[in-house]
Amino acid sequence: MGFDEQLSASSAGLVPGPNSSPSVASLDPQDWPLFRAQSHRMLDDMLDYLQNLRRRPVWQPIPNEVRAHFSDPVPRAPAALATVHQEFLQFVLPFALRNAHPGFMGWVQGGGTPVGMLAEMLAAGLNANCGGRDHIPIEVERQIVRWMQELFGFPQTASGLFVTGTSAANLLAVLVARDVALGCEVRAKGVASSTTRLTAYASVAVHNCVSQALDLSGLGSDALRLVPVDNRQRIRLDALHKAIQSDREAGFTPFLVIGTAGTVDTGAIDDLAGLSGMASAEKLWFHVDGAFGALAILAPDLAPRLACIERADSLAFDFHKWAQVPYDAGFVLVRDAALHRQAFESSAAYLTRETRGLAAGSPWPCDFGPDLSRGFRALKTWFTFKVFGTEALGAAISENCSLARHLEARICESPELQLLAPVELNIVCFRYRCAKPDAVNAEIAIRVQESGIVAPSTTTINGQLALRAAITNHRTTRADIDALIDATLLAGHSLQPHSSPHGSHDLQPQEVAYS
Ligand SMILES: Cc1ncc(COP(=O)(O)O)c(C=O)c1O
Repeated sequence: MGFDEQLSASSAGLVPGPNSSPSVASLDPQDWPLFRAQSHRMLDDMLDYLQNLRRRPVWQPIPNEVRAHFSDPVPRAPAALATVHQEFLQFVLPFALRNAHPGFMGWVQGGGTPVGMLAEMLAAGLNANCGGRDHIPIEVERQIVRWMQELFGFPQTASGLFVTGTSAANLLAVLVARDVALGCEVRAKGVASSTTRLTAYASVAVHNCVSQALDLSGLGSDALRLVPVDNRQRIRLDALHKAIQSDREAGFTPFLVIGTAGTVDTGAIDDLAGLSGMASAEKLWFHVDGAFGALAILAPDLAPRLACIERADSLAFDFHKWAQVPYDAGFVLVRDAALHRQAFESSAAYLTRETRGLAAGSPWPCDFGPDLSRGFRALKTWFTFKVFGTEALGAAISENCSLARHLEARICESPELQLLAPVELNIVCFRYRCAKPDAVNAEIAIRVQESGIVAPSTTTINGQLALRAAITNHRTTRADIDALIDATLLAGHSLQPHSSPHGSHDLQPQEVAYS
């Protein structure tokens, strides 16, 4: 039925028209003007929040009474939207972890943007289910697949899929590689039916989700061989070669090598050219975990460091990290779409494909991963790329790395501080020099986080506890880096006084009331 015919059917009362009365059970607003006014207030509040992020602490400890607020039983009766919104403003918003805040440097988390927030609202309004069927949100996702093929030099026949994050993307890639190695019968018969003992290889600096992916694939986390790194935390190719040979001699079947473009602890980039050469010589699947580092391809000064990423058989990364797309937006790109599809597609009568109608447009995203219900993650990514363009996104990435070098310089000129790892991209690991450095630096991290000024995290580098600043937020400036140095020195000095000029002041938490 064409649009005009539809309208005349509606006015004839054949289908519900715009003036027909709402269903009694409908959850839509009964008073749209009132709802609209409240919606605008909520939007304004959130824009105010984002505009004034700096006035709030990065994080503040959660008082017991706030935690206790969330022990109410299931609500049976309705409440006004305005009332629940007030509850959000009082009990949720002040105690959220503000990874959007310019002082947030813990772990590796992107800052999001107001543009991404609006796009999320539009996606929620459409309530699109992007598992399959023939509708334009899936074309938006396909366009992003094509953009990623172009950016990463993958062929136009490559497939791509939005997932929650790189942990999920790595798992999907391991499953594709497993099925290529064992044959697709493994999907029906299970890994226990095979006598082939597969082994995978990555450096000791690989993210632990890769080991978990091996576990979830049924191959077992012991199948992942952790190869030593060089003094820049990059996988040692000689050790990798040896590990592969000795596994072959012991009767194992090496099938997968994983390179990391931006290791989680220090931001190291493995030698992707060397890895791809070894993978092809040894006939192994070459996967790259580029959770945050892969998108350094957008920064002209950093892109050359990712040379040969285009040779990967699969690549996992997150738009929610260095592309600043709001959580969550992970992505997997697979060079050979047919291999990707054969690892996941399955048939069911209720998912029959057609050449016309809503069930057209096969293959669907659900043929490339385990999710049948999928949100419209592509829309916030599409808006982000279109509104900012890759040049601005790349410039923010470059700036993060230049801030990391500034932090490195500040550490090197401070006698109380020690750099613990080379600064490769945007991550800086360091510590306050003192007796019992592990315990003291763990306490420094907590005190600095509790101050609400900046929030580093910790990790262990060569057996030493390190303060770790992962600068991934487009809002972070030199002043925030300087604040990290000042806060670290203040906390360190108050715990173990040096002959430091910082005196004996302690960090004062930035309190923000919740009532
Ligand atoms: C190198 C690396 N791989 C994988 C992950 C996991 O990504 P996600 O948290 O999006 O699942 C991270 C997270 O920081 C990472 O840095």
